Amino acid sequence: MSGIWGNNLKISIFGESHGVGIGLTIDGIPSGFPIDLERINCEMERRAPGRNNLSTARKEGDKIEILSGLFEGKTTGTPLCGMIRNSDKRSKDYSKLKSLMRPGHADYTGNIRYDGFNDYRGGGHFSGRITAPLVFGGAICKQILESYGIKIVSHIKSIGSIEDESFNPVNVSDTLIEELPKMELPLINKALDNDIRNEILSAKSEGDSVGGIIECAIVNIDAGIGNPFFDSVESTLAHLLFSVPAVKGVEFGEGFNITKLRGSEANDEFYYDGDKVKTRSNNNGGILGGITSGMPVIFRVAIKPTASILKKQNTINIDEKRNEELNIEGRHDPCIVQRAVPVIESVAAIGILELLKGR
Ligand SMILES: Cc1cc2nc3c(=O)[nH]c(=O)nc-3n(C[C@H](O)[C@H](O)[C@H](O)COP(=O)(O)O)c2cc1C
Repeated sequence: MSGIWGNNLKISIFGESHGVGIGLTIDGIPSGFPIDLERINCEMERRAPGRNNLSTARKEGDKIEILSGLFEGKTTGTPLCGMIRNSDKRSKDYSKLKSLMRPGHADYTGNIRYDGFNDYRGGGHFSGRITAPLVFGGAICKQILESYGIKIVSHIKSIGSIEDESFNPVNVSDTLIEELPKMELPLINKALDNDIRNEILSAKSEGDSVGGIIECAIVNIDAGIGNPFFDSVESTLAHLLFSVPAVKGVEFGEGFNITKLRGSEANDEFYYDGDKVKTRSNNNGGILGGITSGMPVIFRVAIKPTASILKKQNTINIDEKRNEELNIEGRHDPCIVQRAVPVIESVAAIGILELLKGR
């Protein structure tokens, strides 16, 4: 079984890239919560392809149809299901991928796992397109979290070797929280916009791709959310983040770099700011013992370079059991990072609502 996640909140995801449609059911959200559909559409737009020359030319409105769980603008409390119909399909582009396995993609593992019965068209259930329903679910969870004051914001920390600044780990500014979601390339240092575009376009012009890092902050979250074992904040978020296609690394706070610090540098010293407990640094990324400390939860996610590149590659023909060269056709992103930003925020929202409900 696959495609179902959660305990206090359950999500179930379905669909294939070139099938009838894709969607998500979310169960466990409160009844009577007013949903702002316009805001859901804005989130879907942030992920949708075809917005500029940095992403695939596949143009789909990603228009969500809500099939259940919403009545007169408010949640009913019963399973809320949203579906997106697939319209701009060119399955012909993918016919040779039935037997030629794309290096770096899931064609080979999907074929083995499902005994060759997987829908290979456009990557099927492994397509990045299946992240659109996650954004739908995340947009609902974000609205519910905002009613508790919790906000989730991200930026592109790097593309290839070009590095943006980092969030101030103890105080993510209101300006960034307001501005980043509106930016096509969400960057703290806006002056890097051109360099990043050129980096992506240069990979594209060579028929190649680039990867990067997304940094995400969850702010205004109370202390005391999460659990020490198994359902810690880190393990819950990591479970969801590693389910996003193309994610190859996740780190919280200082992450791997914390090993280079002495305890005296790594420890985040406590102090009272009025009656609020804060820490002067936030090397632990707002999490201690699997439980939120009340400081911003900060994590970074590594996104690999897009697997489907136009450059010629060596691979196998799984039907004829021989080695072959592969020239990929179809429409692919030279860089996934900017489109993955709302996906990362969305799964973070789903994870935090799950933990909040389990408190
Ligand atoms: C928003 C988004 C868009 C994506 N678009 C593409 C794409 O156009 N071409 C491609 O090869 N992979 C794309 N991917 C990534 C693949 O789906 C992913 O690499 C593949 O399923 C293998 O999974 P893995 O990289 O997690 O091992 C996209 C991922 C995301 C999150």
